[in-house]
Amino acid sequence: MDYFESGYFKYKGNQLFCEDIPLIEIAEELGTPTYVYSKSFFIDRYNEFDKAFAGFDHQIFFACKSNFNLSVIKAFIDAGSGVDVNSEGELIRAMKAGASSRKLIMSGVGKTQSEIKLALENDLLMIKAESEEEILLINEIAGSLNTTARVAIRVNPDVDAKTHPYISTGLAKNKFGVDASTALRLFKMQKYLRNIKYTGIDMHIGSQITKVEPFVEAIEKLGELFLKVKSEGIALEHIDLGGGIGVAYNNEKTFSIEEYAKAVMPVLKKLNCKAFFEPGRYLTANGGILIAQVLYTKKNLDKNFIITDGAMNDLLRPSMYGAYHHVQPLTLTKNKNDITADVVGPVCESGDFLAKNVRITECRRGEYIAVLSTGAYGMVMSSNYNMRRRPAEVLVEGKNFKVVRRRETFEHLLKDEISLL
Ligand SMILES: Cc1ncc(COP(=O)(O)O)c(C=O)c1O
Repeated sequence: MDYFESGYFKYKGNQLFCEDIPLIEIAEELGTPTYVYSKSFFIDRYNEFDKAFAGFDHQIFFACKSNFNLSVIKAFIDAGSGVDVNSEGELIRAMKAGASSRKLIMSGVGKTQSEIKLALENDLLMIKAESEEEILLINEIAGSLNTTARVAIRVNPDVDAKTHPYISTGLAKNKFGVDASTALRLFKMQKYLRNIKYTGIDMHIGSQITKVEPFVEAIEKLGELFLKVKSEGIALEHIDLGGGIGVAYNNEKTFSIEEYAKAVMPVLKKLNCKAFFEPGRYLTANGGILIAQVLYTKKNLDKNFIITDGAMNDLLRPSMYGAYHHVQPLTLTKNKNDITADVVGPVCESGDFLAKNVRITECRRGEYIAVLSTGAYGMVMSSNYNMRRRPAEVLVEGKNFKVVRRRETFEHLLKDEISLL
């Protein structure tokens, strides 16, 4: 099999390391399944992104839905990032991690009254509204709080991001945003909205987009709308391109951040406003792995199974999207054959797999494996299905590592069930 390595996860001798830490050390000390993140990866990706837009007025808001561990959010804040939150829970997390209100923005197609109130009470830089009813509600709540809400309208540019249908969000048939002509009408309502100040236009056309063309097509449409809004005498301050930049999970060809900047910059320059970005996956996916232990191996007729203690409740992406994650051993052993196998978990579903029909070095009971590229939409999508405790999370920085979230305990899982009938 091919062993995937990067500057952050690589073999030294026969051991897979994260930065300067042999992962076997973490597995043996903390048990498995455990997520391990490289802090240097996060910071390097952030700095690369920031540098690609150097000289242009911009702000990056880390989309913490991709990885909302407090220490991960803090790493981005310390690097200079703002934070994009998608719920009141994420807002609470981002504030706890130290985000300042003026570097926080809120997304969400279905914000509740209490979410809008929390955002306004904390004076967030901007709320992205996705419908007329939401705009009216924001105006009403801002009025009751005697404040002015800074609002951007999320526009659905009806562009095909050519990604998995579940993470495609910029087509007219998707639930997100409003179409451009509705947006223009809503912007024109500015004079009647006493407690709203429109500050920008926003889009997010999908996730894991591997070509720049959909971004260019969408930003051109948004640019046209931006200029129309301006001609109505409404001066917007920013245009928000959302997230969506794809990463390599296998051998996909993606584009570099410099190519992305080069593609969108001509439109941005024409608009003479600040650019906002909300990357999630780009900043986190390849900075994390899930380590798990092999519980059993077996062969049913011709089919090999490697049964691990990591399961769909820990990493949902393979079951949910058929997503590919490379699986390889933590320790390389000589004289082992490659086999074709399914790497599965203990959950009672045939959909419980981490990898399907993959070439992998034979594993034995007790050995450890690494599931790569799981820093984004991994832990955040985990659940307690089958009453399984969610994994621990570890952040590595050079020669040091810290447990940044302990493995759940059964007491913790039972504590909210207070009475037996
Ligand atoms: C509004 C919004 N912004 C940003 C993101 C981050 O996307 P990605 O992780 O693809 O960069 C998402 C993801 O769903 C989103 O919904």
